[in-house]
Amino acid sequence: MKHLRTLYDLGGTGILSILDMADSLKKKHGANEEHLLLKGKILGMIFDKPSTRTRVSFEAGICQLGGHAIYLPSSQTQISRKEPVKDTARVLSRYIDLIMIRTFAQDIVDEMALHSTIPVINGLTDLFHPCQVLADLMTIREHFGALHNLGIAWVGDGNNMANSWINAAAILGLEFNIACPEGFMPDPKVIETAGASAMENIRIMNDPYEAVKGVSAINTDVWVSMGDNIRGNNIRGNNIREDNIREDNAEEKKKSAFRPYQVNQALLNKAGNNVIVLHCLPAHRGEEITDNVIEGQCSMVFEQAENRLHVQKAIILKLLDRA
Ligand code: CP
Ligand code: NVA
Repeated sequence: MKHLRTLYDLGGTGILSILDMADSLKKKHGANEEHLLLKGKILGMIFDKPSTRTRVSFEAGICQLGGHAIYLPSSQTQISRKEPVKDTARVLSRYIDLIMIRTFAQDIVDEMALHSTIPVINGLTDLFHPCQVLADLMTIREHFGALHNLGIAWVGDGNNMANSWINAAAILGLEFNIACPEGFMPDPKVIETAGASAMENIRIMNDPYEAVKGVSAINTDVWVSMGDNIRGNNIRGNNIREDNIREDNAEEKKKSAFRPYQVNQALLNKAGNNVIVLHCLPAHRGEEITDNVIEGQCSMVFEQAENRLHVQKAIILKLLDRA
């Protein structure tokens, strides 16, 4: 069974074929050309955390393919009353064709995939956000015509987005710089998995100005992610990983450590002439990115958000062996 737990499930060929399919679906959508490739197929969407883009792009996407989505906020299902993930996986597998899940621990996605006889898609965990990084890659490739021979920088928190970006850079051999404050580096296991040879092109540092020097794309994200400040238990009653449990006043402390990492005009001035700026959204203007930058000419954030739709459709088609 094919799943999308992390980008490693797709590999380089899988990622590129999803990007090609997404480009072609975008053209069809733009031309108002019907593409009912998945008539009658049903996607279940489990959400332990809020969402605008992921929920709506998956739901709109499967509808545009002729299928249907069922929104399953876990608080409204027996998951909230501790029905085991493995039972939920086995039951849903008998009703529907795919599961998308947004949750806290990556282990929950892995367990869902293990017990499911239908494809499971990671719609964001504390550790990874593969669907978003596919849309980021699509946006960069669409703009520059290629993913290689350009520098890409990540500035800010070493969070789920940064981890998935490391996965992508390692798989595709991209030139990737990451600047994070000390204490907020990407997950060490993610770096270990990337391997020494991939890490020759992936440079991890503290200095944001050094990271963006001459690059073509700068990517950032919020300084405090969903679930970062939860102490003890999440809504499933599962323990959150120790390193995700922040101290009291963590949010304020974190924000002061991140102030030098704001994506603003001064930072853009160090980048290449034709630099573009990406942000997965939602953004906190005045924190990780200024209003001027997000509204400015370099900003591709709404193209990037649009591309979520085309990429989700391509992911679904890929996992159902239709692409
Ligand atoms: N970028 C992203 O995943 O947005 P949502 O949280 O709105 O789904
Ligand atoms: N890092 C953010 C991404 C939101 C789409 C979070 O996990 O909250």
